[in-house]
Amino acid sequence: MGRSLITGGAGMVGKELARLLLADDEDVTLLDVAPASRLPKDIRDRVTLARGDIANWAQVLDAVKTSHPDTIYHVAAMMPPACEIDHAAGYAVNVVGTFNVLEAARLFDVGAVVYSSTTATFGSELPDVVPNDYVQHPPTMYGTSKVCSEQLGLHYHRQYGMDFRAVRFLSILGPGRVRGSGWSAYTSLMMEETTRGRPFVIPVADSLRLRFIYVKDAALSLVQLARAKADALTTRVYNLDGFSASTEELVNATRKNVPGAQITFEFDPEYQHVMETQYVCIQKQPDDSAARKDWEWHPRYLLDDAIRDLVEDIRGSLE
Ligand SMILES: NC(=O)c1ccc[n+]([C@@H]2O[C@H](COP(=O)([O-])OP(=O)(O)OC[C@H]3O[C@@H](n4cnc5c(N)ncnc54)[C@H](O)[C@@H]3O)[C@@H](O)[C@H]2O)c1
Repeated sequence: MGRSLITGGAGMVGKELARLLLADDEDVTLLDVAPASRLPKDIRDRVTLARGDIANWAQVLDAVKTSHPDTIYHVAAMMPPACEIDHAAGYAVNVVGTFNVLEAARLFDVGAVVYSSTTATFGSELPDVVPNDYVQHPPTMYGTSKVCSEQLGLHYHRQYGMDFRAVRFLSILGPGRVRGSGWSAYTSLMMEETTRGRPFVIPVADSLRLRFIYVKDAALSLVQLARAKADALTTRVYNLDGFSASTEELVNATRKNVPGAQITFEFDPEYQHVMETQYVCIQKQPDDSAARKDWEWHPRYLLDDAIRDLVEDIRGSLE
């Protein structure tokens, strides 16, 4: 039985990751600023919650020392637009937080650190298929802070031989997203709100096409990468691809699964502008051939399955 520490374990990906590790009888500790009440019932009593802030060095040290993990899944982050509004806070959580996690992992001989990065580390001028090692010139504080984290992890790998591994996620479709947890959160919120019987207003054009990864695939990828044989890895940071969908296709798939869903469009040119200029990174296809080849990555959920599963999940949480 392994021991894992998940930073950001009370978040969308962290909770799903905890479920996967618990299913494999792992001993799971979550390090999160959120209270235990944020944890769903199915995991609340089966994990240890180390309540703390990754930007606080002493709290990270304490959590790593106490939980003594084989693997740290470093998933906590401040998302945009919060870290665009407050750069200092974004830097503290996303950059200093990562440094704290890596340094604690080094001091306590943690076997591996698996990090959740993002295609937002790439710039706005991108080819249709973005190579794994494409130049990273992000237009946002969020993307910049995540590149810094990738680079810190790579430095610890080179300098100390730390087993640092990372994936770059696209926009994640999943439950429990709130407004302000990323500009593309409106996509998941459309399913969340309409399943709860509430109306939902879409601020972008119906033709806007984005790429997604379903939350269960995102969590699974972290476990798969953590368990991949070291000699199979040809790089330390892997692009992942999921599926592509226009707003119109998302609306149709939502309506199919939520009969009577009240969805309307109220076009907001500023919102659309942000998506078109700062989020080109989730409109282009990441080349994920290295992940497919090295550790047999492939997305299990494409558009229809992802939305069906998400709506079922949200309905289940309402019972
Ligand atoms: N959601 C997406 O679309 C998306 C896309 C690409 C990459 N990612 C990356 O995936 C990871 C998980 O994203 P998510 O969607 O689960 O986010 P989330 O916001 O649902 O979860 C993040 C968790 O981190 C916790 N957290 C925030 N600041 C903290 C701090 N200072 N100390 C301790 N905990 C803190 C939050 O309380 C939350 O539980 C992040 O690293 C994010 O950058 C997400």
